[in-house]
Amino acid sequence: MKKLFLLASVAVLAILSSCSKNGKEGQSKSGGSTDVDPKVKELLSKMSLEEKVGQMTQVNINMILVDGYGSKDGTIDPALLDTAVVKYKVGSLLNAVPSAYSVDQWHAMIKQIQDAAQKTPNKIPVIYGIDAIHGVTFTQNSTLFPHNIAEAATRNPDLVAKGAKVTALETRASGIRWNFDPVLDIGRNPVWARFPETFGEDPFIVKTMGVATIKAYEEDGLKNKTAVASCMKHFIGYSNPATGKDRTPAYISEIQLREYYLPQFKAAVQAGSSTIMINSGEINGVPVHGNKYLLTDVLRTELGFQGLVVSDWEDIIRLHTRHKIAATPKEAVKIAVNAGVDMSMVPHDFSFYKLLIELVNENQVSKERIDEAVGRILTLKANLGLLDNPYGEADAKANFGKAEYSALALEAAREAMTLLKNDSVKGAPVLPLAKTAKVLVAGPGANSITSLNGCWSYTWQGADASKYPSTYKTVAQAISDKLGAKNVSILGNANYKDAANYDSKALAAKAKASDYIILCLGEDAYAETPGTIFDLNLDPAQTALAKAAIATGKPVILVLIEGRPRIIKDIVPGVKGILQAYWPGSQGGAAIADVLFGDYNPNGKLPYTYPMYPNMIMTYDCKFSEIDEELTPGIFSQTGYKYQFPFGFGLSYTKFTYSNFKLSKDSIQGDDKITVSVDVTNSGTRDGKEVVEVYTRDLFASITPPQRRLRGFNKIELKAGETKSVNFELSKDDLAFVNADLKTVTEDGEFEVMIGDFKKIFRYKN
Ligand code: BGC
Repeated sequence: MKKLFLLASVAVLAILSSCSKNGKEGQSKSGGSTDVDPKVKELLSKMSLEEKVGQMTQVNINMILVDGYGSKDGTIDPALLDTAVVKYKVGSLLNAVPSAYSVDQWHAMIKQIQDAAQKTPNKIPVIYGIDAIHGVTFTQNSTLFPHNIAEAATRNPDLVAKGAKVTALETRASGIRWNFDPVLDIGRNPVWARFPETFGEDPFIVKTMGVATIKAYEEDGLKNKTAVASCMKHFIGYSNPATGKDRTPAYISEIQLREYYLPQFKAAVQAGSSTIMINSGEINGVPVHGNKYLLTDVLRTELGFQGLVVSDWEDIIRLHTRHKIAATPKEAVKIAVNAGVDMSMVPHDFSFYKLLIELVNENQVSKERIDEAVGRILTLKANLGLLDNPYGEADAKANFGKAEYSALALEAAREAMTLLKNDSVKGAPVLPLAKTAKVLVAGPGANSITSLNGCWSYTWQGADASKYPSTYKTVAQAISDKLGAKNVSILGNANYKDAANYDSKALAAKAKASDYIILCLGEDAYAETPGTIFDLNLDPAQTALAKAAIATGKPVILVLIEGRPRIIKDIVPGVKGILQAYWPGSQGGAAIADVLFGDYNPNGKLPYTYPMYPNMIMTYDCKFSEIDEELTPGIFSQTGYKYQFPFGFGLSYTKFTYSNFKLSKDSIQGDDKITVSVDVTNSGTRDGKEVVEVYTRDLFASITPPQRRLRGFNKIELKAGETKSVNFELSKDDLAFVNADLKTVTEDGEFEVMIGDFKKIFRYKN
């Protein structure tokens, strides 16, 4: 027995050692250094099966707290801690209960946990994981940035990277080195409750922003106090459940999976992400936690990922309890571990530990598989410097809460703001409003701090305002700061369910003394499955309030504070201005006020198609047959891409004129590149930023081609009157698609390239 075990250890060491031969010496494709730390080798050769399986076990912090989920302040119960860390030797803990802790408390808790780990035979430190998906959720006074859906609207990967860097700094300052982020799920179904966590409907944007985030987290080197390990999630196909309900089945063909869901993970692996989390759902009847083809053949062999695979919450046992592909919990563990899951986010008991030990002893899971998984876990710990110093780094604390971080959160929120409508009132666009105006600020979003910040904000749901820093401002407060309280009348409160928010008589009465009504509607914070909805329409009470506001005859500016685009078809014609604010984070109130009153010229662009009807969910890259309409039998018009606002839409207070659109060649062959250029002039009177986007279209292809695909974007800043040239270089990779043989190919033929209203055709030949 012992001899076999040693042989297995030698085998896994050989696998680990070979990693350093790939690519740059000491740098893996999948994050951090792959020069196998001598400590990892030594540990693996000394560890018992129990210790190894313990390393593969991750439990939630409630398991070690006094009163568990009822914990008032996060106090650790030493006996429970010993049970988890010493008796069951768990390798990882996650989360916070019941809310955010201070930096110092985190350090003290991490110390207690790591001290317990010192009592285990090989003193292997615990790795703590946390969801810091738009800033550090679970540390008091952390800096919260706009959610990904808003970050995507900025079309500014550098800005996204700067925000992610702050998140890395504040996470590490909290004594935590593993962040379950970025979300690489593609937002193609706005009904889904996690849509706001995505970078929207386009794979190129998701990939670009995801890679920017990963680099910001990891590029300093994981040992550095400025870095955290990233976790790409949720692999793969989580974001498009057929019903729209979270964690329910998706039906995605492999062509679609490879075209829209895989490229961002491929790019993220190449960018060096250290870990990956698995989709809780199923695709075509196979739960992803049990899908060896996806978790091993595609992820490991094809993408070359060498890092750690962690399950999502309770998702191994759910192969039995929920998905019903495993007749027993033990079979569930066997399926998941053999499919390729290295660490189980169990998270509420030690069943995984017990069952996996049994499975190994019964030869149902091999020792090689265990060593492979544990090798990856220990390598991550070594890469993060945990084997050298498992405690919170005292000097990293200085990186928390710097004043410049709020300025950055403001910049990100401002760049996200997307102006969707700006109709004339008395001969001029209604926005920006004069600072001398008297305004009524109404709607439940006007007084809410939680709806500005959305999910994962000091609590999981983000919906508890009492947990937020007192410095955060609502839209109503930010507008009052700008105009002076006497010019601002406010209706309602932060409770989305309170009838007082929808009192149309009170609204009409208050509107009398106001020049404009600023109506803040949308969604309060929610996260994951509790955010499931059955109707994408805006809440009827909010729609009724908007109609009442329009009926006053005062110009209405609609400010949408929402994670998902809720249907607003019936109120769009009656309002004069619409500002999409998404969930803009800690500085959202100020950013909204800055745009409304002209202190900032908006430049955000929709990262999704804003639907007009709940049953007409379309993406901009739909197929030709999808945009056909046959209003008269036999006569087709291409008017069927029905939207409220199209993908990429967003107005400015200045005017940008495009000219001089050119292609460097009219045909390319093989690996040739073609340059597409256009001049952009700020022909208005205000300085501003403009996002230039380039699209291509394959005129004819062996798989029905989409109308167009985004291939590049560039955000430029132009002074009034200034002109700049923008160039994009396209190669055959930008023209490729996944064909019926699941190969990514570029077929010979004609391609159209589009910028703004310009288009030109060129030929490609292999
Ligand atoms: C979510 C993950 C998250 C995990 C840990 C799960 O419910 O799906 O995104 O990382 O919880 O909090």
